Amino acid sequence: MRISLRQLSVFLSVARHQSYTRAAEELNLTQPAVFTQVKQLEDSLGVALLDRIGKRMQPTDAGRVVVEGARETLDAVERMEMRLADMRGLREGRLTLAIVSTAQYFLPRLLGQFCDANPGIEVALTVTNRQAVLARLAASEDDLCILGTPPEGLDVVARAIADNPLVLIARPDHPLAAEVNIPPERVAREPFLLRERGSGTRLTVERFFRARGLTLPMRMELGSNEAIKQAVIGGLGLGALSRDTLALEGATGALKVLDVAGFPLLRQWQVAYPRGKHLSVVAEAFLDHLVAHARQAVEAGPAIARIAKEAAQE
Ligand code: PGA
Repeated sequence: MRISLRQLSVFLSVARHQSYTRAAEELNLTQPAVFTQVKQLEDSLGVALLDRIGKRMQPTDAGRVVVEGARETLDAVERMEMRLADMRGLREGRLTLAIVSTAQYFLPRLLGQFCDANPGIEVALTVTNRQAVLARLAASEDDLCILGTPPEGLDVVARAIADNPLVLIARPDHPLAAEVNIPPERVAREPFLLRERGSGTRLTVERFFRARGLTLPMRMELGSNEAIKQAVIGGLGLGALSRDTLALEGATGALKVLDVAGFPLLRQWQVAYPRGKHLSVVAEAFLDHLVAHARQAVEAGPAIARIAKEAAQE
């Protein structure tokens, strides 16, 4: 039988997303390339694997059998690779990480130090939102996941590695920017720019207001932290962001952190992996590196931004 691991992993991605297009995005392939891989797999196996139901591509009964077999096969290959990598130790190996988008402001610095010390290691980093990281964590797709708050409802090991306060922001000329101890009720009358559904930032801020019987009037939903900042700078409304995303704008004064009663919301960056997962030597070493250095890397953000600002002015 001429089926390849590549075909199995492409098929798994289509089955997971129920879409050729979204699988193509995830895999960085064109949609026709994804389609061809699945078609070749179907031809080799002599069965139809997917049914189109409305807009979704759903696995047929045979497709579900193949999903299960593909998972087992790819897991077995991964375990084999991991054992070989363990034999080689930290000299070479692969580290796969999934992080929430707010962590991209400090994690690359930690990775940089780690890769300098261990130049043979290849890293794959997925940056997405909380909901997508939780799905990857549940499916054990990465060595380690980084989230803005502890994962809920999953059987995982999670360790706090640094503070992750969440703040409300405004343009410096906004009327609330100069006020102190602003009541949440007052803030909830302003138009808000919120991240997409599935974002941990959005979940946290909505929970805070909901617990006080308040709903934030949403002016616009935006899919990234940078888009939120630009929209706040553009005067479209107030925003909520993890403080660590703001180092650069804090240094330039382009955004103001509001003094709202109850804020900042105190949270902790978490590194997590499924309970019982066998961590590779590389993943163990990176976990130790995170525990030892994350706090310092987070705190260095504003200083690095100041240096960047000074360099830009020279
Ligand atoms: P996110 O970040 O908004 O990109 O999902 C998660 C978080 O800070 O909890």
